[in-house]
Amino acid sequence: MTAPLTPVGRALLTVGSALVTFANPARADTLAVLGDLTSGPALHHLTNRIKRSHEGRQMLQTLTPARFPEHGSGSLPELRALPAGTLGREYARFMDDRRFVPESRAVVRFVEDDTHRWVMQRYRDVHDLWHVLTAMPTTLLGETAQKLFEASQTGLPVTFLASVAGTARIGRKNRQILFSELVPWALSCGRGATDLLAIRYEDYLDRDLNELRTKWNITVPDVQLKGMKSRPSTKT
Ligand SMILES: *[C@@H]1O[C@H](CO)[C@@H](O)[C@H](O)[C@H]1NC(C)=O
Repeated sequence: MTAPLTPVGRALLTVGSALVTFANPARADTLAVLGDLTSGPALHHLTNRIKRSHEGRQMLQTLTPARFPEHGSGSLPELRALPAGTLGREYARFMDDRRFVPESRAVVRFVEDDTHRWVMQRYRDVHDLWHVLTAMPTTLLGETAQKLFEASQTGLPVTFLASVAGTARIGRKNRQILFSELVPWALSCGRGATDLLAIRYEDYLDRDLNELRTKWNITVPDVQLKGMKSRPSTKT
């Protein structure tokens, strides 16, 4: 639900959520509020990009699917039953390995335009799915690179801020991997990939992950990172 805010209220909430997020980047709740409050112009631009594809226009016309994956109806068990190597199966594996549940993704609260609110929610809901597409782990290093990939792909300021906050906390050895391997990958792959918010992923869950990476022009970085296999495993 939208919470109307006065301009002063908006400003205070923006500064407050930015301070708390920088002090503790793991705070998904304040990061979400900061994202809601700082995304206006980027959401306008993203909406126009989504409209360029037939698939994207269809989603915007009805503002559906409402959430990814569909909430509450046990969508993960269905995805677990898909063959190994499919997008849906690998997404379910990614979530299960980390004991993540789709329902824990924060609801967008401070974006007033209906279409923009849908785009912001979609971005937040497919974040874990994009981890599967890029094979980025959810370690500090992987998450930081992933946020930079998202910044390059979406232009959302909050993704860039999160990658800067992450970089500040990475140790010397990993920072070297970040700058030599992951930053160049994130910037070019984020820019070179298809408009990833214009995709109706619900229609592709039973398709082969590697084929989809090729279709959507997503490359997986060569470097071996702790916490994620870049090739889907063959066991189900
Ligand atoms: C695919 O992405 C790469 C960067 O990863 C980029 O150099 C290339 O131009 C892109 N190809 C197309 C067809 O957009």
